[in-house]
Amino acid sequence: MQFFLDSANLEEIKSAWEMGIISGVTTNPSLVAKENERDLPSLLTEITRIVDGPISAEVIALDYPGMVREAQELASIHSNIVIKIPQSVDGLKAVKTLAGQGIKTNMTLIFTPIQALLAARAGATYVSPFLGRLDDIGEIGLNLLNDICEIFTVHNLQCAIIAASIRNPIHVLEAAKAGADFATVPFKVLNQLVNHPLTTAGIEKFLKDWQKISAN
Ligand code: G3P
Repeated sequence: MQFFLDSANLEEIKSAWEMGIISGVTTNPSLVAKENERDLPSLLTEITRIVDGPISAEVIALDYPGMVREAQELASIHSNIVIKIPQSVDGLKAVKTLAGQGIKTNMTLIFTPIQALLAARAGATYVSPFLGRLDDIGEIGLNLLNDICEIFTVHNLQCAIIAASIRNPIHVLEAAKAGADFATVPFKVLNQLVNHPLTTAGIEKFLKDWQKISAN
């Protein structure tokens, strides 16, 4: 399983990229709005200067012609831009058209295994099942991911699975065990993955012991 950073914050993106652990970035309108950024193309251009890998950017239009138009504009920014399209009838049509034009898509807001299968059949490059948001309404998000991984394996689908709406390290561990191709992880969770209290305590003890001997 590879990692994407789920963020539109340039400092976070730079830091995660420099750690060497992410292959790309995913954004969505909420993450972009959090940065108070109205100019999506210039934000994406900045991200492409930091990250050499897939960068997902979401369309705002909900109708098929509008989605395709926005997708073409965003895709023209850089060859690494992947177009995030929400699951809907118009969204599936847009995915099919964009696949025919060689534009990569990431079908988002996936909450059932069959929505993921439809996205793959329409020609999506990636599907993004949302784990945390299912947990939020009392369902088990990881069940969705396990089902999608099983279906895609049984039917030998090439569409890559991105475990999204990741809220904690357990989501990441279980996504890796399920066979997700990617997990898109918020910066806070990425840091939780790095740190462990015994690692911190171990570093402190090594340093203390070393200082004892070098003081003599
Ligand atoms: O990539 C989609 C993901 O960012 C949604 O996460 O935490 O808003 O459910 P969340």
